[in-house]
Amino acid sequence: MLIHIPDVLTAEALTKCRTILEAAPWADGRITAGTQSAQVKNNRQLPEDTPESDALRAIVLEHLNRNALFLSAALPRRIFPPLFNRYEGAANAFGNHIDNAVRICAATGERVRTDLSATLFLSDPDDYDGGELVIEDTYGAHAVKLAAGDMVLYPGSSLHRVEPVTRGARVASFFWMESMVRETERRRLLFEMDMAILELRETQGDSAPTVNLTGCYHNLLRMWAEV
Ligand code: NI
Repeated sequence: MLIHIPDVLTAEALTKCRTILEAAPWADGRITAGTQSAQVKNNRQLPEDTPESDALRAIVLEHLNRNALFLSAALPRRIFPPLFNRYEGAANAFGNHIDNAVRICAATGERVRTDLSATLFLSDPDDYDGGELVIEDTYGAHAVKLAAGDMVLYPGSSLHRVEPVTRGARVASFFWMESMVRETERRRLLFEMDMAILELRETQGDSAPTVNLTGCYHNLLRMWAEV
């Protein structure tokens, strides 16, 4: 399931990120690729151990942690520190690949199982051509190109690619999460239930059936969550 999370970053946060990104020391994107994906990866990436990366990560994580839609959809247990990439000029595409199942945080040595992948778009879509994130699932291929500040969440198990950027630059943040609920279908069920409960509470208040249903949500989460 692909989930679009709008307005993860405010306009103010976006401006701050762009200012930092303008002066950032971009490197070859293959620094974090496995040997197979290195063959199809052709972009630029911000090294993890720079002050620019630290500042950008802090902004992204702060906004993620207060985004109710993200928290409901991902039920995050661990978030791999966000990375930043740039597709432009000759380094403009990333062919089909599946992300590594487990990532190790350079700073802490902590392992993160990549249940979910996320791309947070930082460039205005009018400022570049191409650069769609294409995600394949059982329903076919989905091309994703979102407004600056918006994010897409998708299962880490998905085959995906970034189409060549033919004009301008596409800058994004990308990262992975281990979820408290490992199975995509269980997570999806909980998310749909949570959204339906939210709507019921808004339209009918906290009626007895809504309170019961909320209890069922929490009891399902208790049954399935690893914390
Ligand atoms: Ni990938």
